[in-house]
Amino acid sequence: MRAHQLIRQIIKQRTGIGIEEDRDSFIDIRLMETLQTLGLKNVEEWGNYYQKNWDKRSLEQGLINALTTNETLFFRDSRPFDFLAQFAFKEWIKEDPNKTRRIWCAACSTGQEPYSVSIVAEKFKQLNPLFKLEIVATDISSNVLDKAKIGAYSEFEIKRGLSPQDLNQYFSKTNQGWEIIPKVKQAIQFRSHNLLESYLELGQFDAIFCRNVLLYFDTPTKKDILEKMAKSLVANGYIFMGGSESPMNFVSCFKRSVDGTGEAFVKI
Ligand SMILES: C[S@@+](CC[C@H](N)C(=O)[O-])C[C@H]1O[C@@H](n2cnc3c(N)ncnc32)[C@H](O)[C@@H]1O
Repeated sequence: MRAHQLIRQIIKQRTGIGIEEDRDSFIDIRLMETLQTLGLKNVEEWGNYYQKNWDKRSLEQGLINALTTNETLFFRDSRPFDFLAQFAFKEWIKEDPNKTRRIWCAACSTGQEPYSVSIVAEKFKQLNPLFKLEIVATDISSNVLDKAKIGAYSEFEIKRGLSPQDLNQYFSKTNQGWEIIPKVKQAIQFRSHNLLESYLELGQFDAIFCRNVLLYFDTPTKKDILEKMAKSLVANGYIFMGGSESPMNFVSCFKRSVDGTGEAFVKI
């Protein structure tokens, strides 16, 4: 089998991501750094190296790190965060002020999404000190998770989505850029997790962020993921998706929320 074909097959099997037949140059470009690290000249050499290597799992993780698209920013598409602040948190605290609520950021990339949720929760706590939120943030790429756990961002990354007030209040200046303050970080548990696998060990959630990741999967995979997410949500739990995405295109277990900004979908 050609090395590009082998790589496509590994990525599809391990992550669900489909890379089209005519995108060999995408694979070449994305693997440049990996090849250099391994001292290999090209993708064909990687194919031979993989076939002979006993530690296939770590070579596959290298592929996953190189070939996943990890684009993200703080407060991306702002409306889900407004929905939490203006509607969901208030609803939850009215329903039971002592209950710890749980939000899952599935496919969290380098952490900007869960940190945005945690900042919104911190602000809400100023007026509602009883409010307790646990955030679980997961991704399949070990590279992005390592960065997310540190919570350190460059000047460029900070400029994408953060207001100067939030920057001053929730980040501290370092030599290289900015680092999220411990109070915001402590609310988040970062874990490695593959959306193709079971969600049972993650527990039940009041809301799930599943944004800008389903576009990489085929329709049966999207359906399977959304059905598993519905099972991981409490009754009336919310799911948030990317700006142009809707779970209703694939499954019948969600409806558009009529409350707040109308940006959330609620489990039926
Ligand atoms: C474009 S980012 C989206 C980040 C964030 N949710 C947002 O909207 O800004 C997509 C993320 O999905 C992750 N991903 C892709 N396939 C995955 C899978 N099978 N399981 C878990 N995460 C996956 C990638 O590693 C990447 O970090």
